[in-house]
Amino acid sequence: MKQKNLLYTGKAKSVYHTDTKDRLIVEFRDDITAFDGGKKDVLKNKGNYNAGVSAFFFDYLEKNGVKTHFFTMLDPHHMVVRKLEMIPLEVIVRNVAAGSIVRNYPFREGTLLDPPLIVIDYKDDARHDPMLNDEIIIALKLVTPAELKKIKKVALEINRLLSAVLAAQGITLVDFKIEFGRQGKMIYLGDEISMDSMRLWDKKTGESLDKDVYRFEKGDVMAIYNRVAQRITKSGKKP
Ligand code: ADP
Ligand code: CDP
Repeated sequence: MKQKNLLYTGKAKSVYHTDTKDRLIVEFRDDITAFDGGKKDVLKNKGNYNAGVSAFFFDYLEKNGVKTHFFTMLDPHHMVVRKLEMIPLEVIVRNVAAGSIVRNYPFREGTLLDPPLIVIDYKDDARHDPMLNDEIIIALKLVTPAELKKIKKVALEINRLLSAVLAAQGITLVDFKIEFGRQGKMIYLGDEISMDSMRLWDKKTGESLDKDVYRFEKGDVMAIYNRVAQRITKSGKKP
């Protein structure tokens, strides 16, 4: 497969057309950003760590019945995916209160959220990704009511599957963000599932193992990404 012209370049990934119909190549770059792009850096190998973890999770989810855009890795930071029309929703599942839910609502950090909360933001950098509700999502015609129901169901299933595989490695899945896209009438999981899009806490020490290390300068970001990527992809058996 040959990489063709650039389709889109975002904050951390670039997406390229290919010579194969309905296939794109996603390049996971070493760029890292936080706080709405207010903090930016380039960290060597970050793209490889996030791509490796994403590929591992997509493969694991596919094997467990979740439809994802993932086909294969061309090298450690180039992923072949199904071309989707992305739905501009950031679907966030929360098992433990942290981050914006604690800043914006009277939840204490670390409170267990059982059942998990689904929060959906509008993916629009210019508007700072405002939180939506079901009525707004339907009024904006971003998805149909049936699609919204399906997306929530799949998000909870993904949460169940990811929580289990991470728990087996001694890691709590605090929260994560996923994005979906369409090909025809089918909806697939797209984008990435990585240390940039999840909040992960070590079950024993409570230590952050994700982008919060970068956001709040809690330690050596790449040493932690490297270690957690190995822990997730290599050290354990998939349940
Ligand atoms: P952002 O747009 O948030 O800055 P990235 O740097 O991660 O994000 O850019 C990747 C872009 O590619 C995102 O906008 C994402 O929605 C889009 N994307 C992810 N998967 C696919 C896919 N399978 N088909 C088309 N676009 C995709
Ligand atoms: O990062 P912040 O605390 O502001 O946001 P959040 O709403 O608490 O984020 C919930 C989860 O979604 C975290 O794991 C974030 O890393 C992830 N997220 C993301 O990957 N991309 C976004 N644009 C927003 C959140």
